[in-house]
Amino acid sequence: MRTLEWDYQKNLLKMIDQRQLPGELCIVSYSDYRQVTTAIKEMVVRGAPAIGAAAAFGLALAAQQSSAKNVETLQKELTKAAEKIQAARPTAVNLTWALHRILSNIANYRGDVQGMRKAVLVEAQKIADEDVMINKRMAEYGAALINDGDTIIHHCNTGALATVDWGTALGVIRTAFEQGKRLHVLVDETRPRLQGARLTAWELKQYGIPYEIISDNAAGHFLSRGMVQKVFFGGDRMAANGDVANKIGTYMLALAAHRNKVPVYSVVPTSTIDLSLAHGGLIPIEERPQDEVLNLQVEGKSVFPKGAKARNPAFDVTPHQFLTAIVTERGIVYPPFRKNLKQVCNIKT
Ligand code: MRU
Repeated sequence: MRTLEWDYQKNLLKMIDQRQLPGELCIVSYSDYRQVTTAIKEMVVRGAPAIGAAAAFGLALAAQQSSAKNVETLQKELTKAAEKIQAARPTAVNLTWALHRILSNIANYRGDVQGMRKAVLVEAQKIADEDVMINKRMAEYGAALINDGDTIIHHCNTGALATVDWGTALGVIRTAFEQGKRLHVLVDETRPRLQGARLTAWELKQYGIPYEIISDNAAGHFLSRGMVQKVFFGGDRMAANGDVANKIGTYMLALAAHRNKVPVYSVVPTSTIDLSLAHGGLIPIEERPQDEVLNLQVEGKSVFPKGAKARNPAFDVTPHQFLTAIVTERGIVYPPFRKNLKQVCNIKT
């Protein structure tokens, strides 16, 4: 199944519980938008495009739950529900983008309450289906950047699980592999939640793509020894100048790649580009609970002194100077990013 999908028989949102992978493939169902909000917060579903689609279906649930008697009241209730869903995770702009797209779509709706409920679900389904198409398009463009025999460092999880299906950066790698290119992926384990070690490795195993997991702090070693040809990652929010917020650790990886003249690519749909922010310093960075850092155990025992405190920023910002190019569904964007990103975002599709 897709990472998340609407069950049209039962009118429920179903999704893969990513917290259980790779041990168990567990499907959870939600009938209440507040459950979806919690699922986003607790990372049952994660990855920028996937949480955008989850938010959209969350609004479809809110519309279904509502007992509003007229469309004005329903619209007000949906705006309130959207505010709650949006607060679940602040960095990935796809969340805001998807909610805004649905609310603007129904802003001038002329019809009855039942019709508006249907309109919300139709738009949410469109967002989900478009995501898959967009990812496949990005994958085609991006695969051209990969050569036969490349070793690639990949950060976090940007595969099918981070999206509705196929993936962003990992989708590019998957397409290049399906084109017959021999590849090797060094998978950053991605502390503290280990999206690389748990999810990316699980996906690569299923696709038959050769990989090895490395601890995040090993990337510099491989880059400096000429053992890596490319670095690929996704993005949770890209500012107008190309600075990109992505999973914590991306900045150090890009910095080391830049220092060693290894090309760095960020793969983002245009829905991840936030032209309203001039630079990456303006992107809100989510701080998650310190337990995610402190839960680390070795041989069944906590590795930290009792009472240790931790900091847990979930994302960092990679300056655009470290990016060789940005892969979007509308083509590959090269510097100068401010000018070229604006152009690509304004193309009428
Ligand atoms: O905290 P997560 O797991 O939601 O973070 C996900 C990432 O940082 C991905 O790299 C990002 O969403 C881009 S790929 C779809």
